[in-house]
Amino acid sequence: MDKPLIFRQLFDADSSTYTYLLADPVSKEAVLIDPVFEQHQRDRALIEELDLTLLATLDTHCHADHVTGAWLMQQAVGSKIGISGRYGDMVSGADYLLDHGDVIKFGDRALEVRATPGHTDGCITYVLDDQTMAFTGDCLLIRGAGRCDFQQGNAHIMYRSITEQIFSLPDDCVIWPAHDYSGRTASSVREEKAYNPRIGGQADENDFVGYMENLGLPHPKKIDIAIPANCVCGRPEDGKMPVIADWGPVRLTYAGVKEIDPQWVAEHLDRLHVVDVRGVDEFNGDLGHIDDAQWLPLPELDDRVSEIPTDQPVVTVCKSGRRSAQATVILKKQGRKEAASLRGGMLSWHQAKLPVVRQ
Ligand SMILES: [Fe+2]
Repeated sequence: MDKPLIFRQLFDADSSTYTYLLADPVSKEAVLIDPVFEQHQRDRALIEELDLTLLATLDTHCHADHVTGAWLMQQAVGSKIGISGRYGDMVSGADYLLDHGDVIKFGDRALEVRATPGHTDGCITYVLDDQTMAFTGDCLLIRGAGRCDFQQGNAHIMYRSITEQIFSLPDDCVIWPAHDYSGRTASSVREEKAYNPRIGGQADENDFVGYMENLGLPHPKKIDIAIPANCVCGRPEDGKMPVIADWGPVRLTYAGVKEIDPQWVAEHLDRLHVVDVRGVDEFNGDLGHIDDAQWLPLPELDDRVSEIPTDQPVVTVCKSGRRSAQATVILKKQGRKEAASLRGGMLSWHQAKLPVVRQ
């Protein structure tokens, strides 16, 4: 049997945005739809942990409520940036200016671009090759539709986009929107045709437009920040990548653990404080320990944090990097933010042939 598509739905709670990761299971080539700037580390960690090659980030439109993570991903992993070409000069920095009928390939799989304007001029719905999934952005939402009262919104145009481009897909096609504010995650063409209160059932264009022109929604909170930032694909004004820690190349795992690479630690031991949280037998056992490491077993750490000097960043160490990850959580709770876990623990330290002390 063919291996199934790798698929993840990710959520940004602050803007209620969904980000979608799709990857071909054989080639491991991936695309990421609607990444959120603040979730860059999370998304990047997932891509790495699943061993994927990110070919492109694909925005469904120029968002008004959050900043895209497209530029950050391009800087971090070299992915291309795709967005509608219909924004013209308004958007700069994209690699692919997409339009209706374009096909974006990743391995043996592909997304078809369908222009679905109405919320903005450049709104795109990405349809999976077998038409089992459609990523509708802010055009068709679950039991809703994206507002048409700012940017280049037009409810008449949106009506045609939904009825001609989305409702023409198979009834079983699953709808994956860019947002939901009520905990709903997905829908289907069949469901929305029947139950969408704005455009489902017997609603005609006049019903839809009447509904959409009387939503009375407040202005999006982040519009003044988000639109200018999205016009440059999420590149910050200073052109700098945000860092997790200013003391070293700390990375965040998908589990949310701050980790640091053994090689870097070995090269910077003079300006770090190493805390080894293993049991005494392990500390003095076969794997040995890092020179000058402070031995402080994990069960005692919470009560003895004050014994750790405060003048240097802390690197926590155990055998495989699990207990040391928990140690960083305990340190953080006690206000010690400059801390990271040694990635892969003493096992990785040995693999990299880095020096140890044995008693
Ligand atoms: Fe939007």
